[in-house]
Amino acid sequence: MGIQISPSILSADFARLESEVASIADVADWVHVDVMDNHFVPNLTLGLPVVEALHKVSALPLDCHLMIEDPDRWAPAYAEAGARSVTFHVEAADAPIRLARELRRAGARAGMALKPATPIDSLVDVLPEIDMVLLMTVEPGFGGQPFLDVVLPKIARTRQLLRDSGSSVWLQVDGGISASTIERAAEAGADVFVAGSAVFNADDPAAVVSHLRAAAETAAVRD
Ligand code: DX5
Ligand code: ZN
Repeated sequence: MGIQISPSILSADFARLESEVASIADVADWVHVDVMDNHFVPNLTLGLPVVEALHKVSALPLDCHLMIEDPDRWAPAYAEAGARSVTFHVEAADAPIRLARELRRAGARAGMALKPATPIDSLVDVLPEIDMVLLMTVEPGFGGQPFLDVVLPKIARTRQLLRDSGSSVWLQVDGGISASTIERAAEAGADVFVAGSAVFNADDPAAVVSHLRAAAETAAVRD
């Protein structure tokens, strides 16, 4: 698939979501939707009704990142609501394999997310069951935090693990991705990049998406 960019609407204007998504529709691959429940993370954002509404108006596929407790119970509904990709946190899931299978059965790609300090051991045996790994490069909960360089070795180890197992699972990074950090993440082996504040706090969000993609492509080739 190569490099993909998934702008996060967490930093968009929530009163104008349709036009915010439209502003990046020609240049982005996905739109990243951060669902937070104020339990798994100390912040509250949006849920199913907003995802359903976005699905109706978005030209881009929805990449839902669920930062919620009990994803075993709630995640499948996001796939049924039209999200093309649904990512749950391994720290929160009781039965990740069963959940990933349910998501795929509902027609979505299944993603599994790890907080910065969660080791990748839990990934090794579930790779055939998932479509994407999301490595958080900030502690989940808020946009605009600085990129955690300490996660770079984990990105590289995950890329190596995917190579060794001949896996085509995508490796997404989320948190603090900007023009000044995307190259490091791409060199380490990430191929799907979430960017919130860097895109939606800019005067020209589409130009930022194009710039991020070019920077990641150059860095990935260099690697
Ligand atoms: C944070 C969210 C991110 C957030 C990233 O918990 O998962 O998707 O929007 O925002 P930036 O790119 O500003 O770090
Ligand atoms: Zn996210």
